[in-house]
Amino acid sequence: MTQLFLNASQVVTCAGPARARRGVEQGDAVVRERVGVAVDAAGRILAVAPDAELRAAQPTARIIDCAGGVLTPGFVDSHTHAIFGRARYEEQEMRAAGIGYLEIAKRGGGIHSSVRDLRSRTADELIALATDRLRRIAAHGTTTVEIKSGYGLSLESELATLRVIRQLAADLPLRLVPTFLGAHEIPLDHQERAAQREDYLRLVTEEMIPAVATAGLARFCDVFCEPGVYTVDETRRILRAARAAGLQLKLHADELENGTAAELAAELGATSADHLAAISELGIQALAAARTVATLLPGTMLFLGRPKQAPARALIEAGIPVALASDFNPGTSPTVNFPLVLTLGVSQLRLSVAEALIAGTVNGAAALGLAHEIGQVAPGFQADLALFDVRDHRELPYWYGDRRCQRTWVGGRPVHVG
Ligand code: NIG
Ligand code: FE
Repeated sequence: MTQLFLNASQVVTCAGPARARRGVEQGDAVVRERVGVAVDAAGRILAVAPDAELRAAQPTARIIDCAGGVLTPGFVDSHTHAIFGRARYEEQEMRAAGIGYLEIAKRGGGIHSSVRDLRSRTADELIALATDRLRRIAAHGTTTVEIKSGYGLSLESELATLRVIRQLAADLPLRLVPTFLGAHEIPLDHQERAAQREDYLRLVTEEMIPAVATAGLARFCDVFCEPGVYTVDETRRILRAARAAGLQLKLHADELENGTAAELAAELGATSADHLAAISELGIQALAAARTVATLLPGTMLFLGRPKQAPARALIEAGIPVALASDFNPGTSPTVNFPLVLTLGVSQLRLSVAEALIAGTVNGAAALGLAHEIGQVAPGFQADLALFDVRDHRELPYWYGDRRCQRTWVGGRPVHVG
């Protein structure tokens, strides 16, 4: 039946063109007062209009009382690594003691330790762990979650991870978008000799990608393109194979050190280039000439204790659409709290609140190729909504670390009920 969401103090609509917002467009989240939202039986938004008008037009509709809270589009978290086994809290102290992220990886920690752990788990264990984590994510206002594989690093374990994501998508009311990240690292037993490295690249391009694409297990292919991990040439080779197999492209680009990965993202026309804390001026120019979304992950730099965040202002001023995401993963960003990412967007990346909100909704959707379906509270869009116990949208990034989200809906169906 039709539902009316009434009595909100503000509705953050993000209404506008169904595509990534760049430049000044990113600075208007179209916040409305004294309006409600009508949702049809199929879970799509019918209208955004004054409460009384909606009541008169739909006298028999079910009423959802927003109790003076702020209603927003559900957040679109377009970059996570949510399928993993154990937490890696021991590495936090190692970093505090001065051992860097890549040094921990060289010692067999980091991604490698999550790979060992994931390979020892059953699908049911991974599903149970991820279900709990995704519920926590939804409880903070997120309704769409991109999830990468990448802790399997073998044909069998990568496929098993993607099947876990497919099962979760069937079981949970959230929207999940699967990404194949078989090139998250070079497995430890392929690192010693160049020929072994080549063997793994062949495995990724000639076996994993075709298997993933044939089974329809992923929409995107991603590569950790970083000095010390995958080179630009290797990344180009992998992503070309992915595109030929019908996958869309993402890159972990210039995360820790500059390696001209942003330029590669632009060259390949990737849907998004993610991280970019070490992007160069030339990288910014290259992205500005492309249609690629810059997905920034400020929680990662915060958690790693690194001094330099991505140059978000320069990216926006160059006309590049900026998305924000959590990077939820056991090594560099174990947060389920999307509003905290908005906080970091404002206080660390110097976005306005409106820019951060567009980054977490419309531009997150664009980073997943879904800007025509989700990310806006506007007629025709999916009724993916989040209700917060605040009176003004500027409080969303303000009460940092708190959980103000009361309820979330996907396609008009309740996901999280506070
Ligand atoms: O986005 N950079 C590579 N991947 C993740 C970290 C993964 C891990 O440490 O387990 C990231 O930061
Ligand atoms: Fe990541």
